[in-house]
Amino acid sequence: MTSTILVLNGPNLNLLGEREPHIYGRETLAQIQARVEARAKDLGLAADFRQSNDESELINWIQVARGTADGIVLNAAAFTHSSVAIADAVEAVSLPMIEVHLSNIFRREAFRHHSHLSRVAVGVIAGLGGDGYVLAIEAMASLLAKKD
Ligand code: DQA
Repeated sequence: MTSTILVLNGPNLNLLGEREPHIYGRETLAQIQARVEARAKDLGLAADFRQSNDESELINWIQVARGTADGIVLNAAAFTHSSVAIADAVEAVSLPMIEVHLSNIFRREAFRHHSHLSRVAVGVIAGLGGDGYVLAIEAMASLLAKKD
């Protein structure tokens, strides 16, 4: 059966392309989604790509993933720095999660240096723009292959 990777995007990532392009680049979320889906398909995986500005919706999607996905790629955006609830949801579902950030959060303001999610992540990719999502899909494929 084809493994599914849930790719979740948090608040304001729907504005990519227009939002602070000097930090986040010119690529839109739809363009990143197309790249993620294509790479997942090459690797024999399915990507379920979603975005929400709503913390509870992200948590509900993580909970549902317990029965429907094999791994999670997560850019929780600003919730990264504030949400114990999202980290708890990831921990509760016991699925491998890779944390992604477009920007290098460690080169930015001090409040972005702490992530509540890294504690429950297998790994973290930051600073590589949309390429980070593609790299996360590749890393997840390798993780899932080792698990089988
Ligand atoms: C982000 C980094 C966060 O600090 C910020 O709040 C975002 C995007 C990134 O992808 O670089 O919205 O997660």
